[in-house]
Amino acid sequence: MKTCDHSPVKITLTTPNPSFKASFLAGLEEMQNDSDQSAWVYLGDSSPRDIPYKDFESYVQTLLKRENEAPVGFVKDTTYWAILGDEMVGRISIRHHLNDFLKKIGGHIGYIVRPSFRQKGIATEILRQALQSSKAQSIGKLLLTCDEENIASEKSIVKNGGIFESTVYVGENRPRKKHFWISLNS
Ligand SMILES: CC(C)(COP(=O)(O)OP(=O)(O)OC[C@H]1O[C@@H](n2cnc3c(N)ncnc32)[C@H](O)[C@@H]1OP(=O)(O)O)[C@@H](O)C(=O)NCCC(=O)NCCS
Repeated sequence: MKTCDHSPVKITLTTPNPSFKASFLAGLEEMQNDSDQSAWVYLGDSSPRDIPYKDFESYVQTLLKRENEAPVGFVKDTTYWAILGDEMVGRISIRHHLNDFLKKIGGHIGYIVRPSFRQKGIATEILRQALQSSKAQSIGKLLLTCDEENIASEKSIVKNGGIFESTVYVGENRPRKKHFWISLNS
């Protein structure tokens, strides 16, 4: 495994924008046949994963709309794309409040980094920046979760001030979830 370069990566967070179509789709290609693909598209597990190929502009609008209008079964969220140079290399989403699913499994924040850009400190950096956003600040105390064996995610949470609370059973044949809290106002 490559070691992480600890110098800060020059990432900018931006709201989803059709101008990053090429790098978004390149990321999707890298995740072919991978369960991460659904997290990259971020329309829910039951949504077809080819939606961004069909009409990228309206896909982007769908993500943006969720800021003010949640699809059935979801809560409102704010999504940012991580830009490195002129490429989209990751996504981070802040859920505005917790429903039962998020309380147990998803938490307030979900993120994913394009496979070819992993282990460069990007997840740690996008979480740091997202926690500075006005949306995260207004939530104040955020639940972060990760699969028990997801060392990379756990490290990025802990490096951003995550305090371990518990490991939670979430169902048969599913990895247990580790719960952490990040308090922004203390
Ligand atoms: C988890 C994920 C977001 C991490 O992204 P990343 O940009 O590679 O993470 P970072 O580079 O910031 O690394 C954070 C830490 O984890 C370590 N790390 C990264 N990948 C690792 C791996 N595969 N195994 C072990 N440690 C790893 C890094 O070395 C770093 O630790 P360090 O600071 O002690 O050196 C990425 O692997 C991913 O997108 N996975 C699929 C989706 C997912 O799991 N999202 C999180 C949901 S909770």
